[in-house]
Amino acid sequence: MAELQFLGKVVFITGASSGIGLEMARQVSRAGAKVAMFARRLPPMAELETALNQNQKGRVAAAYVCDVTEKQQVLTTFAQAAKDLGPCDILIANAGNGYPVRVTNFDADAAIQIYKLNVFGALHAFEAVLPSMIKRRSGHIVGMSSLAAFRSYPESHTYCATKSALSAQLEGMRPELMPYNVHVTTLCPGFVKTDLTAANTVPMPFILELEKAARVMLRAIAKKKRRLAFPWQMVLFTRLSRFVPDSLIAKATKGKSYKKD
Ligand SMILES: NC(=O)c1ccc[n+]([C@@H]2O[C@H](COP(=O)([O-])OP(=O)(O)OC[C@H]3O[C@@H](n4cnc5c(N)ncnc54)[C@H](OP(=O)(O)O)[C@@H]3O)[C@@H](O)[C@H]2O)c1
Repeated sequence: MAELQFLGKVVFITGASSGIGLEMARQVSRAGAKVAMFARRLPPMAELETALNQNQKGRVAAAYVCDVTEKQQVLTTFAQAAKDLGPCDILIANAGNGYPVRVTNFDADAAIQIYKLNVFGALHAFEAVLPSMIKRRSGHIVGMSSLAAFRSYPESHTYCATKSALSAQLEGMRPELMPYNVHVTTLCPGFVKTDLTAANTVPMPFILELEKAARVMLRAIAKKKRRLAFPWQMVLFTRLSRFVPDSLIAKATKGKSYKKD
């Protein structure tokens, strides 16, 4: 079973206080990994930490308050996690968010905030774990991109651009890290039922249940896949949508919103 790959591994997950990150933390832990969780909201992670550490000989889970947009916080909390659980074997750089940025009253600062979280946040985590992985000639970097990396839409263009940037970053790092036996996986899910998508009023075809989406992604990580884009229907839809004229895209998305304002 591919999931055996997680047995005894130390997995660091950013954005682990809700949605995909929290569910992945649950599932990797069930597969025998030690899990370090990072996000700004402690309570949901602390609750899981307590549950996972119960009846265990040593500590198998730890939660840390960490804003990934703050590099020093990432370096400090990751170093603490390495002391508490051991050096990171698998990093899942999952923290991310998106909200509409409109061309009317275009707000560059709002757009930059999305870059800071979705791109810079991941870069901070890479800096925190790569030296040890390279030194140990062992490791796995996982980035949470999205099918949004493949096709940009009105109002969500900034989110889509950040996911394209993250995908490109990971693609180039992959061969560069090969000589050091550090693997890289890019995850590109379609829509998943989480807080992120809860307030969307745009159509969300083929939306995935959280538990299943996390399971599929963890299997891809266990198999050290280069990239996972899924579900296949949404991949096809995204590819075909590249041929749809802009006028139709404008019509289909008019008055609809990506997430709350
Ligand atoms: N849901 C989807 O349909 C979908 C599809 C493709 C890709 N994704 C990607 O999957 C990832 C997880 O999203 P989700 O759907 O699970 O959404 P979610 O439930 O809203 O989770 C987002 C996570 O990111 C954390 N986060 C936000 N700002 C942070 C910061 N400054 N520092 C540290 N952590 C921060 C949040 O924790 P705190 O607020 O506690 O900090 C939360 O744990 C994101 O990268 C998203 O772009 C989602």
